Amino acid sequence: MADDSVIYDSTPCLLHLILLAELFTHASSRPAHSPDLCGMFRSMIHQVDRLTILSKELHNLTDEELVNFEGVENRLDGLPHMQHTAAHFNSLKVNESLSKLFVYTQSFRLHVDWLKTAKESVSLSSQSAERVSSHLLQLSNLLNASLLLISEEVPQSPSASLPVVSTAFDVLRFSVEISEHLEVFCNWSKRVLVHLQRLSRCPRH
Ligand SMILES: *[C@@H]1O[C@H](CO)[C@@H](O)[C@H](O)[C@H]1NC(C)=O
Ligand SMILES: *[C@@H]1O[C@H](CO)[C@@H](O)[C@H](O)[C@H]1NC(C)=O
Ligand SMILES: *[C@@H]1O[C@H](CO)[C@@H](O)[C@H](O)[C@H]1NC(C)=O
Ligand SMILES: *[C@@H]1O[C@H](CO)[C@@H](O)[C@H](O)[C@H]1NC(C)=O
Repeated sequence: MADDSVIYDSTPCLLHLILLAELFTHASSRPAHSPDLCGMFRSMIHQVDRLTILSKELHNLTDEELVNFEGVENRLDGLPHMQHTAAHFNSLKVNESLSKLFVYTQSFRLHVDWLKTAKESVSLSSQSAERVSSHLLQLSNLLNASLLLISEEVPQSPSASLPVVSTAFDVLRFSVEISEHLEVFCNWSKRVLVHLQRLSRCPRH
């Protein structure tokens, strides 16, 4: 036992050197992650998490009240529809996903800003729509900046023809519809962004 400790006395130093060498070879063979892009992904996920919570407040209805809106036909054809299949997630590229996220975010901004005006026109509180809108704007700015960072063209923002609303009931129906779509969008975006973090080899936190 005593002999062992003498023999291995110099090994810790050698071990350090070997570990250091390993570290350098690993670092150079692995594709470097972009710290800026990784930071942006983190900020985007933060915005999406906030929007997930806020999306439920968009209509400000209780579960009992919501039952009255079940089965009401959807009327906002311009709201984005996301693909949720596993095959879809596996084929995602960073540039295409960011472009898609940007277009969807802009589309929701358009709808939520319209909803805010519609709520005001029938004297409903527009606070929740205002909050959602401001987080969508921050998300859209982050997406814009990340597209510029990877030298990808920023896609054109979508337009939509939105209906004229005259009653508070109408506005509530649209609030429910946008709220539900926004929740699906948040789930989808979160999965896409986590996938992009992995693709870009961003450090985990
Ligand atoms: C996205 O990047 C890939 C290469 O990683 C390229 O082949 C493809 O054309 C790009 N797509 C767009 C829409 O720019
Ligand atoms: C939600 O409704 C309550 C009354 O039912 C009201 O006091 C509150 O201000 C509303 N909140 C929002 C964000 O609209
Ligand atoms: C994207 O960012 C650039 C540079 O900051 C800015 O000029 C442009 O207006 C932005 N585009 C959108 C759609 O926000
Ligand atoms: C979003 O995801 C949460 C948990 O992952 C789930 O409970 C919720 O039903 C999902 N919402 C939609 C609209 O897909």
